[in-house]
Amino acid sequence: MRDQRSRIDSLGADGSAGDADYSVIGAGYSHYRRPEPAFADAIRAALGDARTLVNVGAGAGSYEPRHLDVTAVEPSAAMRAQRPVGAAPVVDAVAEALPFADRTFDAALASFTVHQWRDLPGGLREVRRVARGPVVILTCDPAALRRSWLSEYAPEVIATEAGRYPPIADVAAGLGGTVTVQQLPIPLACVDGLSEAYYGRPEALLDAGARRANSAWSFVDNAAVVRFEETLRADLASGRWDDRYGHLRTQPTFEGSLRLIVGLP
Ligand SMILES: C[S@@+](CC[C@H](N)C(=O)[O-])C[C@H]1O[C@@H](n2cnc3c(N)ncnc32)[C@H](O)[C@@H]1O
Repeated sequence: MRDQRSRIDSLGADGSAGDADYSVIGAGYSHYRRPEPAFADAIRAALGDARTLVNVGAGAGSYEPRHLDVTAVEPSAAMRAQRPVGAAPVVDAVAEALPFADRTFDAALASFTVHQWRDLPGGLREVRRVARGPVVILTCDPAALRRSWLSEYAPEVIATEAGRYPPIADVAAGLGGTVTVQQLPIPLACVDGLSEAYYGRPEALLDAGARRANSAWSFVDNAAVVRFEETLRADLASGRWDDRYGHLRTQPTFEGSLRLIVGLP
């Protein structure tokens, strides 16, 4: 296990184990990425009557159900530091080498993290191993990312995300057993600032902090970011964005790429 961990966490200065360095982009994350109640409800329903839960890639603790006995797993020190006082205990480990015996927990949760794992099949095998019941994964379907207007304004970001998020079929295959996949509509006032959360509030993406809370932006070069800002700012001022996408400002939900995957043994 030690060898696996040291191989995996060679990336970030703070122990970040995925492809993104949270010692750089983690600051302010929990301000922009608050748990969206609609997604939390869907997760709660999928967890059924579980009483113990391991939350892998837990970050600052979004979507950790308060009513359960939760053990969090998070390799990045910057993210662990953002966990609020009173949050569940957190273990410094990676999905690919979970320091728990087989079937330790009733259920497992992994929200917005599987795309960052260095070894997806290995991580899924581990999560499946330590959970007796449902493994609940909140992630994005790379095949649906181009539904967003961002694919016109920031194609590099969408291409980056499409290349990082694993195909839903790969996640299902890695889990094995019985797997269901549910599309989660994104509410207009979504408080979890994934890129699609701003589908009807384009001005919000002119905030560098909002972009930083989506790790894909950390992989595109500065010229693309400057062009995005300038083009979006100009199109908002001229009314061009609203001519094409203005209907989204009042559309209650967006059927985007968000998926809830539930695996049963
Ligand atoms: C986008 S954040 C999501 C955090 C939280 N689950 C949420 O929903 O807000 C992704 C998290 O996955 C963690 N991570 C990346 N690679 C990981 C790995 N191999 N094992 C466990 N966690 C990992 C990162 O450190 C980061 O905290």
